[in-house]
Amino acid sequence: MNNTDPIEIAPNIFFIGVFDPDIRTFDIIMKTANGSSYNAYLIKTSEGVIIVDTVKLEFQEQFFKKIEKLCSYDEIKYVICHHLEPDHAGAIPELMERASNAKVLISPQATAMLKAITHKENIDFETVWTNKSLKLGNKTITFLTTPYLHWPETMSSYIVEDKLLFSGDVFGSHYYDKRVFDDLVGDFFYAFKYYYDHIMRPFKTYALNAIKLYDKLEIDIIATLHGPILRDNPQKYINYYRKWSQPNQKVISNGEKILSIFYLTSYKNTKDMAEAIYEGADSVEGIVANVYDLASIEESNMINILEESDGILIGTPTINADAPKPVWDLLSCMMLLEKRGKVGGAFGSYGWSGEAVDMIIHRLKSLNFRVPPLQYMKIKLIPTKEELKDCYNYGVEIAEVLNGKMIELTMN
Ligand code: FEO
Repeated sequence: MNNTDPIEIAPNIFFIGVFDPDIRTFDIIMKTANGSSYNAYLIKTSEGVIIVDTVKLEFQEQFFKKIEKLCSYDEIKYVICHHLEPDHAGAIPELMERASNAKVLISPQATAMLKAITHKENIDFETVWTNKSLKLGNKTITFLTTPYLHWPETMSSYIVEDKLLFSGDVFGSHYYDKRVFDDLVGDFFYAFKYYYDHIMRPFKTYALNAIKLYDKLEIDIIATLHGPILRDNPQKYINYYRKWSQPNQKVISNGEKILSIFYLTSYKNTKDMAEAIYEGADSVEGIVANVYDLASIEESNMINILEESDGILIGTPTINADAPKPVWDLLSCMMLLEKRGKVGGAFGSYGWSGEAVDMIIHRLKSLNFRVPPLQYMKIKLIPTKEELKDCYNYGVEIAEVLNGKMIELTMN
């Protein structure tokens, strides 16, 4: 078998994706030690051909060679695009040139993206969503609206006769192995989990909504957009996502709200503020407050703490008119998390300018944290007893907000 051979994954359903064994970084942030694949599929029906997704632009010639081994372009009636990120949409423009009779099927949210990819106004396309279906010859495909997994336009579909789910990016792995099926490839579980953590974890609620739709189906095979095709008890992969996507599983509280106070300190002043805020917050019933020194915390621990926290306060000094790198590192972890409903705030001691706290507040707001319009805790150099009392009161106020006290949020 070479890279130009299609692989039949179910009767008349073929893998026509491409392998990228040498990629080592995906989407800038993900390490891909085992490479990856851009999976695409071709369905032969008694009345024509359906293409399911395409591949990254630089690999399109391999993709077209596989199509040409199975059909002529005139036979292609539909192109189903579950996701329009360039790793799957790269070959769409050329495919639309070659298969000029084909109609593109996308989610409604993908309409503007399709136009931006093809730069054409006269594309033959139709939008589809849950409960809509396509019957072509002997194959029936039903569509499932599964947005934000992990882009707004993502969707899934299901071939009724073959009990085959095209999941989109969901259940994928960045893991190249030309043997293709989960029961034939090497141990890819680390890649499956890593992919979930970096791509799907911020969208847990949407993953659970998608699983509600998948639960209504009998699934024998899951054809993903990256990595192994899942046919060995596919339900177990759905159950992993179900388990990992549960709302915050708090191990340190029994229903209390968790406030995590992170700080970085040069001369102990911001640390003293953090401890006073902690004392205030922890004095409020129903709150579990914790303090963490950002200079000594591993990123993976930070992510877990952030995830289970209902509120986050960040204490930062100002150095050269900026917040130091560990503070920005903490904020960059937020891209891996669902932030909906979390309360945020910032504080810090400064020497002569003090911009860092404002920067952090601004960043928290842009990340959609609920930032109460309380007075920012910015203190020049060494906090006085009165200022530490203010910090204590700030902790109390934040704790009360976490307990449900109504606040008016400012957007900027
Ligand atoms: Fe594999 Fe979101 O693209």
